[in-house]
Amino acid sequence: LRGRSLSVTSLSGLPQWEVEELPVEDLLLFEVAWEVTNKVGGIYTVIQTKARTTADEWGDNYFLIGPYFEQNMKTQVEKCEPANDAVRRAVDIMNQHGCQVHFGRWLIEGSPYVVLFDIGFSAWKLDRWKGDLWEACSVGIPYHDREANDMLIFGSLTAWFLKEVTDHADGKHVITHFHEWQAGTGLILSRARKLPIATMFTTHATLLGRYLCAANIDFYNHLDEFDIDKEAGERQIYHRYCLERASVHCAHVFTTVSEITAIEAEHMLKRKPDVVTPNGLNVKKFSAMHEFQNLHAMYKARIQEFVRGHFYGHLDFDLEKTLFFFIAGRYEFSNKGADIFLESLSRLNFLLRMHKSDVTVVVFFIMPAKTNNFNVETLKGQAVRKQLWDIAHSVKEKFGKKLYDALLRGEIPDMNNILDRDDLTIMKRAIFSTQRQSLPPVTTHNMIDDSTDPILSTIRRIGLFNSRTDRVKVILHPEFLSSTSPLLPMDYEEFVRGCHLGVFPSYYEPWGYTPAECTVMGIPSVTTNLSGFGCFMQEHVADPTAYGIYIVDRRFRSPDDSCNQLTKFLYGFCKQSRRQRIIQRNRTERLSDLLDWRYLGRYYQHARHLTLSRAFPDKFHVESTSPPTTEGFKYPRPSSVPPSPTGSQVSSPQSSDVEDEDEDERYNEEEEAERDRLNIKSPFSLGHVPHGKKKLHGEYKN
Ligand code: UDP
Ligand code: G6P
Ligand code: GLC
Repeated sequence: LRGRSLSVTSLSGLPQWEVEELPVEDLLLFEVAWEVTNKVGGIYTVIQTKARTTADEWGDNYFLIGPYFEQNMKTQVEKCEPANDAVRRAVDIMNQHGCQVHFGRWLIEGSPYVVLFDIGFSAWKLDRWKGDLWEACSVGIPYHDREANDMLIFGSLTAWFLKEVTDHADGKHVITHFHEWQAGTGLILSRARKLPIATMFTTHATLLGRYLCAANIDFYNHLDEFDIDKEAGERQIYHRYCLERASVHCAHVFTTVSEITAIEAEHMLKRKPDVVTPNGLNVKKFSAMHEFQNLHAMYKARIQEFVRGHFYGHLDFDLEKTLFFFIAGRYEFSNKGADIFLESLSRLNFLLRMHKSDVTVVVFFIMPAKTNNFNVETLKGQAVRKQLWDIAHSVKEKFGKKLYDALLRGEIPDMNNILDRDDLTIMKRAIFSTQRQSLPPVTTHNMIDDSTDPILSTIRRIGLFNSRTDRVKVILHPEFLSSTSPLLPMDYEEFVRGCHLGVFPSYYEPWGYTPAECTVMGIPSVTTNLSGFGCFMQEHVADPTAYGIYIVDRRFRSPDDSCNQLTKFLYGFCKQSRRQRIIQRNRTERLSDLLDWRYLGRYYQHARHLTLSRAFPDKFHVESTSPPTTEGFKYPRPSSVPPSPTGSQVSSPQSSDVEDEDEDERYNEEEEAERDRLNIKSPFSLGHVPHGKKKLHGEYKN
């Protein structure tokens, strides 16, 4: 066995290792997930962002398998015929046998092929497939668990498809990569039928971890004490748990997205992951380094417009001194830390009021819940704003025309008479129309479960009702953002760019894409040492706070102490001057290389090599079963003093009204960035092994 070589690129300073190139022309790769073309949460982001680097490596031998939904197909997939004979045959045979299998190219970067199964169309086979599952692993699925039944249909179709492909693969070896328990049935059935495939299973969470944490159990301190069968049974997820655990144990290679979830998996699923595959992103670099700052200013203006409408009649705060914070993701109130966030906001409100701060914070909660459309008051706010804008515009036109005529006549007009009585009346009436009886609403939608909704209930308890005296205002937007929304027409990325701080104080978060996405867009964020992302940053960045990554300690502190720490972060952030915020954003953005799939994709590459070597040991082998380690690598502290207030600075306030935005400073910061990049010291920098691509040591034999 040869040792793996590592090399360093001076540009990003990240440790690199030689890529062992697989003979992909002789292989087929199938990646299976319920979120292929189907957005639910972060797994969609994994698959969608990873597609480009995977397609670059695998070309036309890469296929994604997912569920068919008419709307998703119409909007995201271009139908085409499979070029690969085995795949075309498999699609045709299944369609001839009463299934509906769709094939096309997913219109995302990398445009990978997708195979989509219509679940409803094959539902009539459910009972037979329940029998097959029972035969394979003695797991039964209750009829009322619709989701698990759908997963069985999905899995049965996947296993059938893989059987057809492998029967005619023409000597090509097949790797299949299944994500999460939802896709796992396909893996279990394929293995039970002894299909000649190499299998990988990646879990993005454990079922029990998610359930136990949501029940506010002190999970991490009792990891080894749970009676897992009993816990799963009591929560009526025993069959799902069995499918998850069977998938984990059937796979040649088991991976998960972070070290913390690896430990959890060992306890909950009884297998130590072979590889940790941290989640990356498709990082786009702008040619001008400050471009992302311009985008921030542009999208912030759009959010300000919305806020003008939402707070009409109550706009007695200065929008130039207003900061936008947000939390976003699936609505898991305590797992996502919305509970401690609200508590901290209440404390922040108190601090800002007590210190008579002129800063206002508008906080958005973007978490989908059941609703019955936008509420009238919210829509009215935007209508009032639009009306005022129209009136201002028409008066301005009239004013401009009169002024122009007067100047043509060689006169300076009498400013007192340039507007007539009617104009004044229209303007007064417009101002009167902005009077409102109620406070600006705390939610934009009619909530179906209004009285029991956890966010609204907490808002009621802590009394954050958007009153004039509140320095912290809250807006719950219980729907994912969309550029076609009549209320806030922005997509999620634009919205994030326009905000100042993302706040994700999660308790249960195997990875947590939301703060990672903030980072690559140069927006500071709050995360925790219980999230995969937070731990990853702690491990790879010497001083995360200086780079705008605030990590709340939720592991070794009580909830109240965590809340205090979060409040300190938030209050410290509010005290920064504009210049400090600009500098901090530059630093945050500098971390994006660390989160790029071009860097992190290697863990998946390693996992695929390992899978092949385990499934087909006569043909493939890897040099080391563990992935190349980057242990000891850290981004150094930025060379100048961190702009972000630390805990101790909270008691020694800096004035926030130093809004001296100094463009030169900004570019100096960019130079500092470049210096930092080149100065990065890596433990591997002495190795100086040139990096490049090479074949997999010729172990592949035909
Ligand atoms: N997201 C989105 N639109 C929104 C809010 C969030 O597309 O309006 C996405 C976000 O970009 C992220 C994902 O939802 O990629 C949430 O993933 P995360 O890993 O943070 O959490 P999960 O929901 O998987 O637990
Ligand atoms: C970016 C823009 C600046 C703008 C600043 C506002 O840096 O390039 O022109 O002044 O954002 O920053 P703030 O943190 O106040 O939104
Ligand atoms: C899961 C986790 C989330 C992670 C995502 C992608 O949904 O809850 O933390 O980021 O998967 O791996």
